[in-house]
Amino acid sequence: MKYLQLNQELKASQLVFGCMRIDGMSVEGLEELVHEALDLGVNFFDHADIYGGGKSETVFGEVLARNPEMREKMIIQSKCGIRRGANVNFYDASKSYILESVDKSLERLQTNYLDVLLLHRPDTLMDPKEVAEAFNELYRAKKVKYFGVSNMNSMQMEMLQAHLDVNIMFNQLQLSPVHSGMIQSGFYVNMKEAPSIDHDGSVLEYCRKNEITIQAWSIMQASWAEGSFIDHVDYPQLNETLQMYADKYGVKKNAIVVAWINRHPARIQPIFGTTSMTHLQEMCAGSNIVLTHEEYYHILASAMKVDLLP
Ligand SMILES: NC(=O)c1ccc[n+]([C@@H]2O[C@H](COP(=O)([O-])OP(=O)(O)OC[C@H]3O[C@@H](n4cnc5c(N)ncnc54)[C@H](OP(=O)(O)O)[C@@H]3O)[C@@H](O)[C@H]2O)c1
Repeated sequence: MKYLQLNQELKASQLVFGCMRIDGMSVEGLEELVHEALDLGVNFFDHADIYGGGKSETVFGEVLARNPEMREKMIIQSKCGIRRGANVNFYDASKSYILESVDKSLERLQTNYLDVLLLHRPDTLMDPKEVAEAFNELYRAKKVKYFGVSNMNSMQMEMLQAHLDVNIMFNQLQLSPVHSGMIQSGFYVNMKEAPSIDHDGSVLEYCRKNEITIQAWSIMQASWAEGSFIDHVDYPQLNETLQMYADKYGVKKNAIVVAWINRHPARIQPIFGTTSMTHLQEMCAGSNIVLTHEEYYHILASAMKVDLLP
């Protein structure tokens, strides 16, 4: 397992265990999966208050209650800011909601602190000064150690950071070989092709410049509708290329995807969403593989279905 020394205290596994899909698992099933993840070196766990309507945090909390020695080995992150309303889902980064959400997450997780708290989505009604107050209060009360955001562009982070007393350490963004707009736009500077459109204010470069760790979500997912691109009939070229390198390195295709994310010098953390023991083990096998320059681009070009030379 590769580790990232994010600051003096925080030594994080590059691979992150995503908890969005664990809400339907039994306590025993999750306990086994978490034990295996820890044994394989994964120490970073990503939650959100809304996953499974709170059930993901609850079942994870039950695992922690049965295994209290696990807590100190883990970096536990949760997110807040997406709410389910009576008429519509909406975003809320108000001070009162952030404080209330963290208290509920701590209760469900059966722990007295989060290592990391992220704002889940940008809230256009957000008052950055209120967020700063909430973060300071949570930090002083030792309820949260470190902070970050998710799905924010560069200027949103810049605006928020201007008011915060703590550093934004993370930005969680969708990234995979088939969802790589933040990388592709860098190849098409000043061109007319669709990938030249910068959807995120050069968020990749902004995060690298400011030493903000990008966490990649849905690394195996084509889309919600299609499911995973692994073995998907609509992605033959990508699967063929992944298989070629899987054979070369003696692993499965999902391990090559992990190696592809890890290869980027931005030191991105891939978050996996599997609930399968086999897939967990297969993906961890990709952690130490270092793809060559050409292999990295071959996988990207296969996903983009283009030849990168203009
Ligand atoms: N910040 C945000 O807005 C945001 C949004 C979405 C997710 N997230 C975070 O990111 C995490 C991961 O997201 P995700 O669940 O969409 O990620 P993912 O790793 O792309 O997993 C998506 C699905 O791929 C399936 N899969 C099929 N074949 C696979 C294979 N060969 N190897 C591995 N997986 C395979 C998995 O099912 P199996 O269980 O059968 O392996 C899983 O259900 C979430 O748990 C959450 O923590 C954040």
